Amino acid sequence: MSSLGANNSNSATSTTNNNEESKTTIYSMLTDQPITIPDSCLFGICRPVSEFEKLNCIGKGTYGVVYRGRDKISQEIVALKKVRMENEQWGLPISSMREINLLLNLRHENIVELREVAVGKSLRSIFLVMTYCEQDLASLLDNMSQPFTEAQVKCIGLQLFRGLNYAHKRFIVHRDIKVSNLLLTDHGYLKIADFGLARQFTLPNGSMTPMVVTLWYRAPELLFGSKYQTTAIDIWSAGCVLGELLCHRPLLPGRSEIQQIDLIIEMFGTPTEKIWPGLNDLPSLKHFSLRQQPYNNVKQTFPWLTNAGLRLINFMFMYDPCKRATAEDCLRSSYFKEAPLPCENDLMPSFPQHRNQISSSSNQPRPALSARLSSSSNEPTSAVNDSRKRQNLPPLRVGCTNVKRTRKS
Ligand SMILES: Nc1ncnc2c1ncn2[C@@H]1O[C@H](COP(=O)(O)OP(=O)(O)OP(=O)(O)O)[C@@H](O)[C@H]1O
Ligand SMILES: [Mg+2]
Repeated sequence: MSSLGANNSNSATSTTNNNEESKTTIYSMLTDQPITIPDSCLFGICRPVSEFEKLNCIGKGTYGVVYRGRDKISQEIVALKKVRMENEQWGLPISSMREINLLLNLRHENIVELREVAVGKSLRSIFLVMTYCEQDLASLLDNMSQPFTEAQVKCIGLQLFRGLNYAHKRFIVHRDIKVSNLLLTDHGYLKIADFGLARQFTLPNGSMTPMVVTLWYRAPELLFGSKYQTTAIDIWSAGCVLGELLCHRPLLPGRSEIQQIDLIIEMFGTPTEKIWPGLNDLPSLKHFSLRQQPYNNVKQTFPWLTNAGLRLINFMFMYDPCKRATAEDCLRSSYFKEAPLPCENDLMPSFPQHRNQISSSSNQPRPALSARLSSSSNEPTSAVNDSRKRQNLPPLRVGCTNVKRTRKS
């Protein structure tokens, strides 16, 4: 990012290839004249994005467009996430700054690898170059004819908890765990992606905006307006992902915040001050009166699940964030030690690459098969997102009878 940090903020950048002294030239946006940056002002050099060939668009999110690309030098296939600068007057958006900063310091086999940042000629043209993953779980779930087996779900779940455990131990909370932010390689490796909303937190925890996490995966403390977020919000979201993989459909697909709370209450019963001390002090509970529903319907929702599986689900969905499972607790769960045992990564199936079945000339993302929310996190109201959801999606009812499940003995 050196050239971006150069001392002329009104400039576009480009690297001079033929300059033996490896100086960098920037072009003034005011005069269009080249200015050479002295070596002493450089902290490193971003490669020009022209060294990558764009193959096709594989995703369009809130913060950027993602392309499959080829590194012309190494011939490797990579993912190029173009930072969306549409409304940015003051340079790189904060979400991208955070994503770059955090990802460059995170190295784990279950977290997407940010290799470098590449730049185009204009200051508005910035790309995150990441290791390419063949699938994301959202488009995969939309296109799979057969649901994952329980052994495969355990393999994915364990990898998700390992990635989260690594990030949480470094005081990083992801704040947007959902199936479209979980990538899968053809070798069966799950990678947590999209750290655009992630934050490093301090202890004691400072206040943060509660408008994070896509609605279906949003923890109740956020829905009730708590400004104090802990890693427990990622665990709630991970529980929603695990439930979605087991049921092969979204677990709590609310269409509005009110309905989201309603679905949560239907599944887990009404929270009380007794099981969640401090509940009545949460800001939104001044405006809501909660529907009374005394039952926990987890067992009815997952009738095939063993006691260990049910215990894990209930632990991940504890209302009180202080009592909710940690990623480490999840990794230790006996659910992963009983039959069917988690499948090995290299025994995970590989799948057709649906996202690449588009003409590269059109360079457009695949039309949204998925009705999953792309993100609600940075939008002022979740109602905006809700209009993008699958219109005919009935709420999940107990039993998940829509999925024929084959159990491994
Ligand atoms: N390294 C990668 N390999 C393959 N595909 C990727 C990679 N990174 C991102 N994608 C694809 O691009 C999509 C959007 O990427 P990402 O979630 O990082 O962007 P975003 O703008 O923050 O999205 P959103 O706001 O919708 O969550 C992902 O859902 C995934 O399909
Ligand atoms: Mg995303």
